[in-house]
Amino acid sequence: MKLNIPVILGSVRDSRKSIFPARLINKILLDSGHESVLVDFKELTLPFMFCDPPPASLNKKYPDANVQKWSTIAEAADAFVIVTPEYNHGYPAVLKNALDWLYKEFEYKAVGFAGVSSGITGGARAMEQLRPLMANFSMFAIRETVMFGPVQKAFNAEGLLIDESYNKKIGGFIASLVFAAEGMKKLREGRKERQ
Ligand SMILES: Cc1cc2nc3c(=O)[nH]c(=O)nc-3n(C[C@H](O)[C@H](O)[C@H](O)COP(=O)(O)O)c2cc1C
Repeated sequence: MKLNIPVILGSVRDSRKSIFPARLINKILLDSGHESVLVDFKELTLPFMFCDPPPASLNKKYPDANVQKWSTIAEAADAFVIVTPEYNHGYPAVLKNALDWLYKEFEYKAVGFAGVSSGITGGARAMEQLRPLMANFSMFAIRETVMFGPVQKAFNAEGLLIDESYNKKIGGFIASLVFAAEGMKKLREGRKERQ
């Protein structure tokens, strides 16, 4: 089944390394026959969530053009890959802000995490802190993750993959995500029929 799986990038720093794993996962998804865009909040800049009432009750109509674009991308998605850098043992505020803007667009969809850090933990702590948020969106967060740490040993300075073992890791991760995404898609369809 061909699925639409955007890759959400959680870093907007000029010299961010997380863009290398994000680009690689995006490419592998496309090469596997899936639809995928790289969602980069450095280009698609979002304001800090300022809405009153909360976004969940806005019926997907937002007071900002880029948030509306983000909503359109998320709405069309079957599943997501979130590439999160680890900042101070957590995930970045830019990612939380992007997630806080939307709600219904995420409901009953699968998500997988890839963590990125300069240390050996490969963003593990950031990824585990993201899991409870996914439950609030009624998302299914797959158990499998890809840990890019230390990221500077996985890619060279130009962003070329130097540790080829990641190709296999990403392949297995995507297979699990696709399996979950297909299940969640059936669940959403069944739920729609009953409504
Ligand atoms: C504000 C900040 C906090 C960071 N905290 C950690 C950390 O707690 N653990 C770690 O391994 N790396 C930490 N790093 C390094 C990042 O993991 C590293 O920059 C990595 O490349 C992923 O982030 P990037 O995509 O923004 O480059 C931190 C970086 C920044 C900018």
